[in-house]
Amino acid sequence: SESNQFCDAGIEYGEPGCGISSSSSKILIKGGTVVNAHKEEVADVYVEDGIIIAVKPNIKVGEDVTVLDATGKFVMPGGIDPHTHLAVEHRGLESIDDFFSGQAAALAGGTTMHIDFVFPVLDSLTAGFEAYEKKAKKSCMDYGFHMTITKWDEVVSKEMEIMVKERGINSFKFFMAYKGAVMINDEILLEGLKKCKSLGALAMVHAENGDAVYEGQKRMIELGIIGPEGHALSRPPMLEGEATSRAIRLAGFVNTPLYVVHVMSIDAMEEIATAQKQGQRVIGEPIVSGLALDGSGLWDPDFVTAAKFVMSPPIRASGHDKALQAALSTGILQLVGTDHATYNSTQKALGIDDFRKIPNGVNGIEERMHLVWDIMVESGQMSATDYVRITSTECARIFNIYPRKGAIFPGSDADIIILNPNSSFEITAKSHHSRSDTNVYEGRRGKGKVEVTIAGGRIVWENDELKVVPGSGKYVEMPPFSYLFNGIDKGDAKYLSSLQAPVKRFKFTD
Ligand code: URP
Ligand code: ZN
Ligand code: ZN
Ligand code: ZN
Repeated sequence: SESNQFCDAGIEYGEPGCGISSSSSKILIKGGTVVNAHKEEVADVYVEDGIIIAVKPNIKVGEDVTVLDATGKFVMPGGIDPHTHLAVEHRGLESIDDFFSGQAAALAGGTTMHIDFVFPVLDSLTAGFEAYEKKAKKSCMDYGFHMTITKWDEVVSKEMEIMVKERGINSFKFFMAYKGAVMINDEILLEGLKKCKSLGALAMVHAENGDAVYEGQKRMIELGIIGPEGHALSRPPMLEGEATSRAIRLAGFVNTPLYVVHVMSIDAMEEIATAQKQGQRVIGEPIVSGLALDGSGLWDPDFVTAAKFVMSPPIRASGHDKALQAALSTGILQLVGTDHATYNSTQKALGIDDFRKIPNGVNGIEERMHLVWDIMVESGQMSATDYVRITSTECARIFNIYPRKGAIFPGSDADIIILNPNSSFEITAKSHHSRSDTNVYEGRRGKGKVEVTIAGGRIVWENDELKVVPGSGKYVEMPPFSYLFNGIDKGDAKYLSSLQAPVKRFKFTD
């Protein structure tokens, strides 16, 4: 490929006038097994101008149509990653994958949409939203935004309403950790939960007890444990379990749905399961690193290797990974994200003398679809239809963009992958499309390879080659009041009438 200042190795740019013909706007995918969350069937899929037109056997087309043979392969909705941090800034440092390189990597791995977390700028949600709008201008796939709430006052409350009613945001994240930075207290969480409920927006929590984490970090430094292993030791699973339980109970008290991001431990998962058994609407999101890895890498004698695994909550000891997989297969956890936030070795080295200064985050946006297939389907823990549900459909339902996204139906966006279950993949930093010089899945092999990715009706990944167009990705507005809010008002009414049951009191007089 030609090289210019914007050029990432191995990526062809299809900018208008760049010399790369954007592929035909008419595509026929022939003979594959079309998998939706509710069923799979052998059928052809016909796409025109970015939209799926027909899904049925034996579609006949003219000469001007690009035909892809999918015989023996699965044709599935493109992945949707509910949890990413592209070009995220923290302490003057920006993560290395931006909205172009991160999305290009995603497309090479079969993910065709992601939802990224906006941070306010100088406490302003509007300024934060506009800053992210700018970052996302170079997008080559569709994307949506969650908004982060870091303080509370009347202005924030009003801006939340503006975000939902005018900016297409239907979810807000609250950090219960990162003391002295983005952490909020229970009072703010309660205000936020009430506001989310009134707007029909989904409250999301990063659930770790930030005060206890701060204490745990001091303890490690006092003991002289300054390396990456100190990161895991300073914030054990019990602190994730505690915050998860607290957030769930507060959401139950307010009677609003709750989404727990990056569930990393048995402790947190069991709190979610307990609440669900009592009828509470709690969504649990495991991420690929929690499902596919154990935290032993943090003890690697090589700092660069150990530091690449530093993220929060930490990747746990062996056993948590298997338990999270089981919870995903049985429905306690509903969808898989990545928390993709990449820093190269130079950036991670900021914490060479103090694990508290290692920028937090791991890769995964390119690896998610492959690893989840291998770990969940190839291993026999899950069907192909359930795979579609946890990688795409359920995310689209929760964030209220189904069936435009998350399905192969006539009328849905043409975000489609062809996965070959008999082909294998290998992961290495040498060949991945992220700009990071490391990969937490280095050397990992598995079965089930995404051979073709179609995004917005364009073939962007085929024959191990990316052909992406900066600026072709669209912002997807997400409307409030998803299915998770159905019947919430009836629960409120029941609660109120229970409070107003008359109490008989007798007055005693001499
Ligand atoms: O370590 C992590 N997870 N970095 C990204 C920010 C967050 O907490 O999600
Ligand atoms: Zn090039
Ligand atoms: Zn988080
Ligand atoms: Zn995150």
